[in-house]
Amino acid sequence: MGSFRFVKFTKGSSTIDNILSSRILIMPGIVIVGAQFGDEGKGKIVDYLSQDADSIVRYQGGANAGHTVVTGNKKFKLHLIPSGAIWGKKCYIGNGVVFDPEEFLEELDTLKKDGITPNISISPLCHVIFDFHKAMDAAEESARKVGTTKKGIGPAYADKISRHGIRMCDFIDDERLMKRLAMEVERKRESLKLYNSEYNDTADSVFKKYSGIAKKIKPFVHHIIGDLNTQLDEGKKVIFEGAQGSLLDVDFGTYPYVTSSSSCSGGACTGTGVPPMKITKCIGIAKAYCTRVGEGPFPTEIHGKTGELIRERGAEYGTTTGRPRRVGWFDAPMVRYSSLVNGFKEIALMKADVLGGMGKIKVCIEYETSEGKVKRFSSATAETAKPIYEEVEGWENPGDWKNAAKKGFQSLPRGLREFVDYIEALIGCKISMLSVGPSREETLVR
Ligand code: IMP
Repeated sequence: MGSFRFVKFTKGSSTIDNILSSRILIMPGIVIVGAQFGDEGKGKIVDYLSQDADSIVRYQGGANAGHTVVTGNKKFKLHLIPSGAIWGKKCYIGNGVVFDPEEFLEELDTLKKDGITPNISISPLCHVIFDFHKAMDAAEESARKVGTTKKGIGPAYADKISRHGIRMCDFIDDERLMKRLAMEVERKRESLKLYNSEYNDTADSVFKKYSGIAKKIKPFVHHIIGDLNTQLDEGKKVIFEGAQGSLLDVDFGTYPYVTSSSSCSGGACTGTGVPPMKITKCIGIAKAYCTRVGEGPFPTEIHGKTGELIRERGAEYGTTTGRPRRVGWFDAPMVRYSSLVNGFKEIALMKADVLGGMGKIKVCIEYETSEGKVKRFSSATAETAKPIYEEVEGWENPGDWKNAAKKGFQSLPRGLREFVDYIEALIGCKISMLSVGPSREETLVR
């Protein structure tokens, strides 16, 4: 990834001189990525950083994401609309997103009831999720369990890759939509029959349902690639809001128990049309412990009372599906791996307050594997890796976190400060932000 710098062009040395002024300021394109299995609290940090950002863009995933943002006494739950909408910032939905039009309109309505009218542009190149994708997601889940959100994410990405997808530019044009549905719906019916699904729509009935919805979406569809690149060229601050987490990335995660998109920082480029050199920084978001929803390997999972206690204290229930999240200890090799594949320059450590008052806390520092002890996490062997823990002293939480956060890092309980330094040393990445509660005021910047 590039770095924040000035580029000096020597006068007369190239034709670019004639076009551009002598100095170009390359400013931050910042990617925010979950360092674990999602639900780390990205929404809160994106919201925090959005205050002085110019725009926020979603680059992958769809309405499977659940971003909770708390402002004052209001709680917003967003799935598709970027969290920056709450600050009234310019928001974009990139081509890498699979777009559920009904969910979008519902979310828009909910925000409007709270007096928020998002300024949002949707890429004409993103792929649209239809009911048949959701039916296929449910059917596939009944045959082999990944624990998906059943939002149609996997089948929509499968259609995209196999060139059967319907893009937004087709969706908002009646003639093109009908033509594409005529080609695709029958194929879907045939596939769904194999699962004994009751799906019974026809191209005509799908068109009838969605053409009205498409008319409501059309005003939001704009060519966003030029806009985003121009903003970055002009030195504006653009936040790329990742959804899910690095260990759910279709390439780097615990395949096949993953989502179907590139949730790591590389996805920010392919999902928006912004080239890698314009991304200046990637910030990882990690919980002080770890959670996972759905199936799949989870080396540090805690079974029994301690796990239940953390789940209750951390309100670890899915924002999108309400499912109880599986809970585990902080896995340092896993977050180190995330840092490697994403290029984290810094990390925000979330929900540190949840572990306060629990006595000793465990942290995984390496694994026992068939090759002996290893410090490296690998998605290829995560299923059989046995965690080796170190125990650290805990701490008692202060009664008023808002006040403690205001006073700064040095006024926090000693055990918590030592825990943060310890984790930082284990993962080899600066912990620049610490979150000790859901509100904006319960955030410390180091
Ligand atoms: P899908 O993205 O709905 O296909 O689900 C695939 C896997 O990713 C399942 O294990 C889901 O529980 C998980 N998943 C999807 N979205 C999120 C999220 O926003 N947070 C945490 N897990 C997620």
